[in-house]
Amino acid sequence: MQNETEPKFTSQFQREVYQGLTAYPKYLSSKYIYDKAGDKLFQDIMAMPTYYLTDTEFLILEKHKEEIASYFSNGDSFFHLIEMGAGDGKKTKILLRHFTEKDINFTFRPIDISQNALDSLKKNLEIEIPGLKTEPLQGTYFETLETLHFNSEERKVILFLGSNIGNLLHEQAIEFLSKVQSYMQPNDLLFIGFDQKKNPQTILNAYNDQEGITAAFNKNLLVRINRELHANFKLDKFIHWEVYDPETGTAKSFLVSKENQKVHIADLGLNLSFEAWETIHTEISQKYDDQTVKWLAEKSGLQVITEFTDSTNYYKNYLFKKSV
Ligand code: AVI
Repeated sequence: MQNETEPKFTSQFQREVYQGLTAYPKYLSSKYIYDKAGDKLFQDIMAMPTYYLTDTEFLILEKHKEEIASYFSNGDSFFHLIEMGAGDGKKTKILLRHFTEKDINFTFRPIDISQNALDSLKKNLEIEIPGLKTEPLQGTYFETLETLHFNSEERKVILFLGSNIGNLLHEQAIEFLSKVQSYMQPNDLLFIGFDQKKNPQTILNAYNDQEGITAAFNKNLLVRINRELHANFKLDKFIHWEVYDPETGTAKSFLVSKENQKVHIADLGLNLSFEAWETIHTEISQKYDDQTVKWLAEKSGLQVITEFTDSTNYYKNYLFKKSV
């Protein structure tokens, strides 16, 4: 039996876990996968040969870095290179190294909620790319864009790499892009990586590795709930399941209960029942085509300037500006 009355929540995590697991069908937000263990599992995913996204974006940046530099620097005018979700900056380093070698006039402004993550990225960049100016922005994407918006007349080039946009439903992506767009001036640019529709088997293979890394990545949600909310999920009583719909381009991840079972989440005072083969939806990884990207841009007050890809067309980086 599910509890009837909502408890008092002390965090957004508590609230969202409660709402997701008392809904039918059940769901959890993929943003909560990323604690220390989740970050490490995602690093392992990016290193898997079947997870083509990372290597393909890497190749695209490497192949087109000169053309990208010329768009970004727009006749050698100074710009802030702002990265939303910089992580360890591995892909961005291709551009940072090239721009620094070419003496391009810019400052790198990675945004992260964690000051620790920013400190270690800055330290690492100082060693790896001497001469690069890094001025991290600590806070949420929109808090920090707001600061730049009001304090600066200088141009902004905003990066959102890794197909992170694909973890948003179209409606959420439009809300997100519209908000980013509202912080842009006519000369600012937005550069985003979008994973593309392709052979459905290639997509399934990327999210269905035999080693179980993607399964562990999804199950990290349950590990976190067990640890942080004092729950008793038994991980081996769930399987990870991936589906891909080639018509909509949506890959969906689930955790599926292998049997009838009960789970208690002490901090939420919640007793959950799972029927055999009942699902928890954990993540979407949207795949795109040019038409869909153009539609998203139009809905968000943006326009596509150009796009960059490699010979496989597996993945594309699009450059946008504000539409007038
Ligand atoms: C972070 N994000 C773009 C990844 C993706 O491809 O949706 C997360 C991921 N999930 C499973 N594998 C990787």
